[in-house]
Amino acid sequence: MSELRDLREWISACEKEGELKRIKVQVDWNLELSHIAKLNEERKGPALLFENVKDYTIPVLTSALTSEKRLAITLGVEPGTSMCEMARWWMKVITEKGLIKPKEVPSGPVTEQVVEEDAIDLLRDFPVPYIYPKDGGRYIGTAVFLITKDLETGWVNLGTYRMMVHDRNHTGVQIIKGKHADMHFKQYEKAGKPMPAAAVIGCDPILFLCSSTLVPAQVSEYDVAGGLRGEPIEVFEGELTGLPLPAHAEIILEGFIDPKDLR
Ligand SMILES: Cc1cc2nc3c(=O)[nH]c(=O)nc-3n(C[C@H](O)[C@H](O)[C@H](O)COP(=O)(O)O)c2cc1C
Repeated sequence: MSELRDLREWISACEKEGELKRIKVQVDWNLELSHIAKLNEERKGPALLFENVKDYTIPVLTSALTSEKRLAITLGVEPGTSMCEMARWWMKVITEKGLIKPKEVPSGPVTEQVVEEDAIDLLRDFPVPYIYPKDGGRYIGTAVFLITKDLETGWVNLGTYRMMVHDRNHTGVQIIKGKHADMHFKQYEKAGKPMPAAAVIGCDPILFLCSSTLVPAQVSEYDVAGGLRGEPIEVFEGELTGLPLPAHAEIILEGFIDPKDLR
């Protein structure tokens, strides 16, 4: 099983295996970054870490899990393991060893820098790429996940839904009807309350893998990821939302989805 805990350890592990390339020349967030990423992906290239994004100091990672070898590194199985064998391994670990609930910790490296609502400016502060010419805006969320909680049972869901920046302190989130966050949202809508939600951008990729995989309702992807890792995922209580947030994430946007403010 893998001992990876965060994105930085994953980047090092991929680099050692020749599965990640650092791009040091300047790349424009405006269509250039996404175009390079797409061409690289079509050629089955490595994960790319764009370290010099025009106008920004924060790097952007693309194509994290687009190869069998990088999936194997993420799961901590032998490189060379096929997709089919990895799927079997996943089911065997989950059924034989079981799920592992997250462990609460007081805080984590992600809280080293906290920016409050009045001070945040998403497009100024983060290198959000403009991906396709016909997109309605710049997408801060692609390989990310949204954390929400069932109002009645307390079940915590992690789901990958794309997110486009709307303005300085708002992002849209495209939750298709029937997805688990939509089930949660309907409860809040009925209760006339804004739904607490947290978007995690940059994290141990096993959490992204679980959040974009079909996991049954009332089962938390945190427990599945813990089971696959063989140890609990460390979480802390979000100050604004009270949601359990991954301690070893890079960026977390904490906020609310207000049924009275849909755009
Ligand atoms: C890169 C990526 C982007 C995705 N974008 C969306 C999206 O915008 N909206 C959506 O409903 N599902 C999207 N999905 C699919 C969901 O992540 C997937 O159905 C997942 O199981 C949803 O979680 P849930 O079952 O907890 O609702 C995406 C998946 C991936 C891998």
